[in-house]
Amino acid sequence: MTQLREIYYCEKCGNVVEILNEGAPALVCCGVPMVKLEAKTEDASIEKHVPFVEEVEGGVLVKVGQNQEHPMLENHYIKFIEVLRKDKVCRLELKPDDKPEGFFPVKKEEIIEVREWCNLHGLWKS
Ligand SMILES: [Fe+2]
Repeated sequence: MTQLREIYYCEKCGNVVEILNEGAPALVCCGVPMVKLEAKTEDASIEKHVPFVEEVEGGVLVKVGQNQEHPMLENHYIKFIEVLRKDKVCRLELKPDDKPEGFFPVKKEEIIEVREWCNLHGLWKS
């Protein structure tokens, strides 16, 4: 069975889907099973992916790359940032040339998880 909020990826076409309601044991795209993405939490490379959460007035600012911004190029960028609460998913969709960060009007103590997806390096969380 799929689980609520899991994210699946098609290795053939690049489709990314998020589970909004639990169901079938396997998702299929392009005739092959989709891969469940497991969010990584440690980044050893120079490029930083783990979302950094900073408390600001009225909510939180999430940055991808605490000291160095993740690239936002046509072929390599952060596609979305999500802030998960118990009862709410806040998602910011980004495109090349955007800043790899976003403001979310959510109290820091209510956050269960923050995650982002890089089109080249996959899913990351903090
Ligand atoms: Fe990346």
